[in-house]
Amino acid sequence: MPAYSASAPGKIILFGEHAVVYGRPAIAVPVYQVRAKAIVNADPRSVPGMVKLQAPDIGLETTLAELPENHPLAAVLWKAASAMNLSHIPACTIRITSNIPIAGGMGSSAAVSVAILRAFSSSLGHPLSDEQISRLAYEVEEIHHGTPSGIDNTVITYGRPVYFIKEVKIETLQVKQSFTLLIGDTGVQSPTASVVSEVHQGWEREREQYEELFNAVGAITGSARLAIENGYIDSLGPLMDENHALLRKMGVSSPELDGFVEAARSAGALGAKLSGAGRGGNMIALVMPSASDRVVRALEAAGARHTILTEIRGT
Ligand code: PMV
Repeated sequence: MPAYSASAPGKIILFGEHAVVYGRPAIAVPVYQVRAKAIVNADPRSVPGMVKLQAPDIGLETTLAELPENHPLAAVLWKAASAMNLSHIPACTIRITSNIPIAGGMGSSAAVSVAILRAFSSSLGHPLSDEQISRLAYEVEEIHHGTPSGIDNTVITYGRPVYFIKEVKIETLQVKQSFTLLIGDTGVQSPTASVVSEVHQGWEREREQYEELFNAVGAITGSARLAIENGYIDSLGPLMDENHALLRKMGVSSPELDGFVEAARSAGALGAKLSGAGRGGNMIALVMPSASDRVVRALEAAGARHTILTEIRGT
């Protein structure tokens, strides 16, 4: 029996996090330097229905039957089985590995779901479509995050830069000219659901101010889209700086993230901002390739656990 494997990239949000939950646009790009991978091996000689799950990165070795139904790994398999109208899941072993930082704003949970959905459905000769995969991964994200906007499952499933508005048909983004981003990991784990819920409390307290902040972020995202589609890369840096300032006003930055942003800019980055939910996780900086070493060193000196240099290629 052949093994079926599939992988899915990490992602970062370039513009528009948090405001996207309130209907404003956001831009996200896949990051192929980090990935989640799933390998499915059929076990025809095993007990019928016995699904073994191995996820060594999180020290998990169990069976599907032993996991609660709302455990994300169980939920993804039950949802896949139901989308494929399976009456039972054939015996198999599913091994999941990932080098995407957990709770770091790089989409680790959505990437794990997408990789499993692809490998598992292919192993049964019934590969799910991208649309189905993105929807099922979204439903699993709802278990982790409560009210996800859907941006993670979308960009990770399609593996291309996306311009995303909640509940609106997704648009992939043309990139006129390649550009380089440096991602710096604070190493601080920050669960998305709690930061999203704090922003929601802020919005309930001061609706007008938050709506203004979200509008300003939406306008920045719109300008960034034009800049990316027309190859005006120089103007992306200042837009990232402005987006970071607005995220600070929403209260989702942190001393570590502000320190990284400052360090990156002082070392020659063209712009920098936090990426994802905030409070921890990652910072992203736009860099000229010639300045990237200097910015990496500055981030390391500021305490970055690790850095990832990634090129967003022209399409
Ligand atoms: O931390 P991440 O990358 O999962 O990003 C969360 C992005 C938010 O806009 C804060 C929430 C969402 O669901 O879009």
